[in-house]
Amino acid sequence: MKQKNSNFSRRNFIKTTSAAAVAGSVMPAYAFNTKSSTQTGKLAALGGEPVRSKQFPGWPYRDNLVMDQIKETTESGIWCRIQDMKNGTVANFERQYAEMLGVKRCVAVGSGTQALHTSVEALGLGPGDEVITSPYTDPGTISSILSARALPVCGDIDRYSFQLDPDDVERRITKNTRAIMPVHMMGQPADLDRFEEIARKYQLYLIEDACQAHFARHRGRVLGSIGDIGCFSHQTSKVLASGEGGSIISNNEELMEQCYTVQNHGTSKLGRTETIGPKYRMNEFEGAILLGQLPTVMQRHALRNRNAEYLTSKIVDIPGITQQKLYDGTEEGSWYLYPMNYNKEEFNGADRSKFLKAMAAEGIPLSPYIGNGLHKEPWVDNIIERRVYQKMYGNSRLKQFKEEMSCPTCDLVCDEEMVMLWASGPLLGSLADMDDIINAMIKVYENRDQLLKV
Ligand SMILES: Cc1ncc(COP(=O)(O)O)c(C=O)c1O
Repeated sequence: MKQKNSNFSRRNFIKTTSAAAVAGSVMPAYAFNTKSSTQTGKLAALGGEPVRSKQFPGWPYRDNLVMDQIKETTESGIWCRIQDMKNGTVANFERQYAEMLGVKRCVAVGSGTQALHTSVEALGLGPGDEVITSPYTDPGTISSILSARALPVCGDIDRYSFQLDPDDVERRITKNTRAIMPVHMMGQPADLDRFEEIARKYQLYLIEDACQAHFARHRGRVLGSIGDIGCFSHQTSKVLASGEGGSIISNNEELMEQCYTVQNHGTSKLGRTETIGPKYRMNEFEGAILLGQLPTVMQRHALRNRNAEYLTSKIVDIPGITQQKLYDGTEEGSWYLYPMNYNKEEFNGADRSKFLKAMAAEGIPLSPYIGNGLHKEPWVDNIIERRVYQKMYGNSRLKQFKEEMSCPTCDLVCDEEMVMLWASGPLLGSLADMDDIINAMIKVYENRDQLLKV
């Protein structure tokens, strides 16, 4: 995908448009797609006419196939996976999802957090071990490491990809580091070339938090299948959703057998209670909802990719809005979210909150997304006080851990720059719906002199 020219300055832009005005033939690069009177003039936040008044396609997805699966499951009385280990909905979902992703095995569990925690336990990580991950993520990422009483070490992120920064990860490796857990943020691949290289160099496990990244691809491989193990969330907002739910994939059969055992309160398929494990089994209703979506899920995936590509091709020309940076090798995104970086200097110095308010009034609800990087949350102090952490890591490591818990780029993204669209439903819209998003941004840009009054 095209990236915005980082040298594109405001002065540059004004020059381009005034030259165009003189020539009288060329439109500004960001011009409205189909111009109407609502797109110029007064911002809707100040009483003007909004660009859009319709709703975007809703979420979660459901159709008759999903309803039929739920009904059948209800009637069958098979509500728990161990009632039918071969042909139940969970077992069927595991087989079909693994096949779609081109991996040997899938184990379904009750959430993405549970999938990650099961993976951490199955890899044998625990007290005394350190796992480096991103602070710009859902709390479930960190929780999965803490639940094993391992130490989550946060690396900073890249300002434009919003992904964990491999250079910072490498700086934070200690003799106790056992794994890296990159998060494929917004459903796009993290810098996998680098993470694979770092994992090989330092002999670390690579656990992919692909909770947002179903069906995304990097260099011909599906996300989640590239590291030692990969995890998905099927929570309601995700592109493959069952209310709550999660799944784990890998080509390592032995490891997947261990995952089954861990999530089944440590009890293997042979019925022997062998190891430490919580009870995280997915239930048959969640399996039914997921199964009902599999026949059509790739159509929605393709539509989101088409719409995201269209949005990106237009946004590239809007000053002050930068689309997510994608790494080499990215082939398809999941587009669970459509994130952008907001630069207030291009919007008359107006804070992000004013831009968001103006966009919402134009009928385009965008979000600042994560309020605080997880490195700033109270768990950091909480674990330092705990006996198990003091005993396993020692006070001097914990002191250093706390002192180094600084991620300034993550802070900047959280506090000032992230603006994103929840995309699971909205990116299933038409190109005219996408035009509304673009036109609202252009309208706000063109009328940025009004923004400070919003
Ligand atoms: C990146 C990431 N990791 C982990 C999780 C946790 O998944 P769940 O909410 O299913 O436990 C989420 C959920 O939003 C997520 O976005």
